[in-house]
Amino acid sequence: MAHSILPCCSINSCLTTKTYLKNNNTCSAVFYNSVPLQTCKYPGTVLRPCKLRPRRQSIIYATATPMSQEIEKSTLTGSPQSSSESSAKSKKVMIIGGDGYCGWATALHLSNKGYEVAIVDNLVRRLFDHQLGIDSLTPISSIQNRVRRWKSVTGKSIQLFIGDICDFEFLSEAFKSFEPDSVVHFGEQRSAPYSMIDRSRAVYTQHNNVIGTLNVLFAIKEFSQECHLVKLGTMGEYGTPNIDIEEGYITITHNGRTDTLPYPKQASSFYHLSKVHDSHNIAFTCKAWGIRATDLNQGVVYGVRTDETDMHEELCNRFDYDGVFGTALNRFCVQAAVGHPLTVYGKGGQTRGYLDIRDTVQCVELAVANPAKPGEFRVFNQFTEQFSVNDLARLVTTAGKKLGLDVQTISVPNPRVEAEEHYYNAKHTKLIELGLRPHLLSESLLDSLLNFAIKFKDQVDPAQIMPTVSWKKIGVKTRTVSV
Ligand SMILES: NC(=O)c1ccc[n+]([C@@H]2O[C@H](COP(=O)([O-])OP(=O)(O)OC[C@H]3O[C@@H](n4cnc5c(N)ncnc54)[C@H](O)[C@@H]3O)[C@@H](O)[C@H]2O)c1
Repeated sequence: MAHSILPCCSINSCLTTKTYLKNNNTCSAVFYNSVPLQTCKYPGTVLRPCKLRPRRQSIIYATATPMSQEIEKSTLTGSPQSSSESSAKSKKVMIIGGDGYCGWATALHLSNKGYEVAIVDNLVRRLFDHQLGIDSLTPISSIQNRVRRWKSVTGKSIQLFIGDICDFEFLSEAFKSFEPDSVVHFGEQRSAPYSMIDRSRAVYTQHNNVIGTLNVLFAIKEFSQECHLVKLGTMGEYGTPNIDIEEGYITITHNGRTDTLPYPKQASSFYHLSKVHDSHNIAFTCKAWGIRATDLNQGVVYGVRTDETDMHEELCNRFDYDGVFGTALNRFCVQAAVGHPLTVYGKGGQTRGYLDIRDTVQCVELAVANPAKPGEFRVFNQFTEQFSVNDLARLVTTAGKKLGLDVQTISVPNPRVEAEEHYYNAKHTKLIELGLRPHLLSESLLDSLLNFAIKFKDQVDPAQIMPTVSWKKIGVKTRTVSV
């Protein structure tokens, strides 16, 4: 079996950021709490040996310093620089998972809107890419360079806390240091196929997501009781019931009695199930501890550009197109750009809610600006339009023709276990009521997405296009994803 060499130290709070950066994002040291790791949380990997070194302080601060300064000077230790532009009334927002696709765009957007922003991330997503041999289509800078570039372009600071939210000591320090008014929690393993590779990835996904969220809830209770939690859930928690999907709750009359109850959840992967469990834990702590929370059941996000990421090439967001992390529309655009037939799974009638990344940042801003009340567990369905997979294939084919592309579509055996033809009608009015102005999927947007994919088509690895993870073949043995 092929193994990949995975740097593990950055998963933990004793990260040697310097080494990680110097070696082209490949770190050669592996230790945890000053003890070399004997077993890795990330199976299918071989850990490189390392020298025993004392653990650094459990929290690593990185501040945005001018680009001319050396990376070494700014990435490790020291107190976080307080944002020069923050005023007494500026609100502090902690973005967990702020180095990821939705989190990075949101961190920049909120910073641009005058919020004081801190990113918390253990960079594990970059490690999954190394582990699976996949990469963002767009070149993405290190998180340290990203925040330095943001500072040089806008003059605004973003604080960085590099560490794992499953490590409560690390998370506590971050909370005590930053004292957030809101926490936006994107920091999870978010791929359904990744969670279905094998037992170890299923266990990792549920541990990472459920324990991470539980730690966030305890941190709010212990250190920031007024803090509003904005948690990214997914529309996939509901499944595809044969009735309309409500926003979080449904009123049911049963045997003559009526109650308003949480809407039934029918998740269809170990990843989606982790989100369901998160929702239950959050709802419970709202009741038990009076926590204020908003669960954003997000649809599938597409697009790559936002006003802020467009400001400089080093602020560019990631664009996943592979069979594990790529989402449907992004994948179809890349397939069209490189002349690969669009890969419709099975009959293609699978219908889901979709939204533009520019609406993700808008929705989160609206949730943060209009917090839930103490004890309230608020649920919003965060998407703007519904499409079936066949609808998307047709839209990309038409847009591709206009650009002179010969776009073909094939049906490939569905690697997932899901209904391929079904009723789907999900409500999504609450964010509109708060002021969301959707960017709907127009022809011009598809043109620009396709043009973006064409611009980077030489970076496409054709081996990553077809799905490689099967729901039915999930096994006990650790396995690599074939390339
Ligand atoms: N992208 C979508 O289409 C989509 C759709 C619905 C819901 N969501 C949800 O939105 C959130 C963000 O998704 P994304 O596409 O930006 O994912 P992503 O993988 O690009 O980003 C997630 C980030 O969280 C970080 N992270 C993961 N575990 C962590 C931990 N234990 N401690 C600290 N950081 C950790 C990762 O390093 C990564 O930077 C996820 O919760 C996902 O379930 C995404």
